[in-house]
Amino acid sequence: MSSKEWNVPASLVSKRTKNPIRAIVDHLKVVPNKEKHFISLALGDPTTFGNFKLEESCVDAVKSHLLSYKANGYPPSIGYPQAREALAKHYTTPEAPLTANDVVIGSGCSDALNLCIGAIANEGQNILLPCPGFSLYETLASSKGIECRFYNLLPGKSWEIDVPHLESLIDKNTAAILINNPSNPCGSVYKKSHLLEILSVCDKHKIPLISDEIYADMAFEGHEFIPIATLTKTVPVLTCGGLAKKFLVPGWCVGWVLIHDRNNIFHEIRQGIVSLSQLTLGANSLITASIPDLLNAPKEFYQATMAQLEANARVSKELLSNIPGLVPVFPQGAMYLMVEIQLDQFRDITSDLDFVEKLAGEESVLCLPGKCFRCPKPFIRIVFTPPKDQLAIAYQRIREFCKRHHI
Ligand SMILES: Cc1ncc(COP(=O)(O)O)c(C=O)c1O
Repeated sequence: MSSKEWNVPASLVSKRTKNPIRAIVDHLKVVPNKEKHFISLALGDPTTFGNFKLEESCVDAVKSHLLSYKANGYPPSIGYPQAREALAKHYTTPEAPLTANDVVIGSGCSDALNLCIGAIANEGQNILLPCPGFSLYETLASSKGIECRFYNLLPGKSWEIDVPHLESLIDKNTAAILINNPSNPCGSVYKKSHLLEILSVCDKHKIPLISDEIYADMAFEGHEFIPIATLTKTVPVLTCGGLAKKFLVPGWCVGWVLIHDRNNIFHEIRQGIVSLSQLTLGANSLITASIPDLLNAPKEFYQATMAQLEANARVSKELLSNIPGLVPVFPQGAMYLMVEIQLDQFRDITSDLDFVEKLAGEESVLCLPGKCFRCPKPFIRIVFTPPKDQLAIAYQRIREFCKRHHI
């Protein structure tokens, strides 16, 4: 027997891989009131309540690929050529043309983001991220030793980017700017003029853009979703998307990167993304094979999803207005809205976290605190995908809770 002791420390990469949302959510002190049924407005998963369902023809398409026995092997790590071709055809525009060579399929939009961040930045460089923003960006970047710098979004301007602040964060080590449009957690949809402002910063400093468009096309009446790559001939853009939200199948974990690079600036990045895709043996074969069919789902399916989401957004606007101590920023798209908690209006609420815990304890309604998204001010995020009757009950309980705790 050797006298040497076992010593097997975890790797540096694993130790610096942390999702900040977990650190908060796993320590939430939530003891729901047993007298009231529990309603979660916390999970960004449209399938939770069973009211948002995938179109039947899509289910049939997956079934037929399953029964063909032709989608059981490993696809190429970047996805089947037919699926990449179908995505290129679906997303190409005269302003931002795409071919199958510009498409890389991965395991969800999360993986697409991981490929982009991994290919574009080195340890010691920095990447600019939205604040408040989806916490996975920080997890992916800091795991690779990339510094995260957070640019402010402005609640008073429908969560547009504070462009001077964004620009002030850029230095010679800035590898990329990442934007999320439409946004989680804010529910904002950027106007063309705002997207052009962002592009002009990229152009001026020659910084490429990563655009997380997982909520593409999910804009409400009066707001238009514009893929940012269609507005530039000069800025190279990596657009990330996936099946999770618009197609209502988050658990299928299939996403993609669309490489918009008119001037061959990304020739190394392109190869980098392909190399990184080889870290796994590609995304799920069955779902990847079904992509051409899913993209061909009847328009009525998307229209029905959006009509339901929009109706829920309207109910949210109606029932969350004029609640003492709350200032909602109403959504323009996606499935989220942020509500400011005016702490000075409450007797005994000390933070957004405190609000969330007390609300869950007294009213059995769970939201996430803005802290989960690095929001500097006290906010809560509401996911408005539950059925309308459940939303109405949850909002009524929030109103009663606020009245009770108001000064
Ligand atoms: C902004 C944003 N980007 C990416 C993702 C991850 O997408 P996927 O489930 O396809 O990995 C999410 C999931 O909630 C999200 O909200």
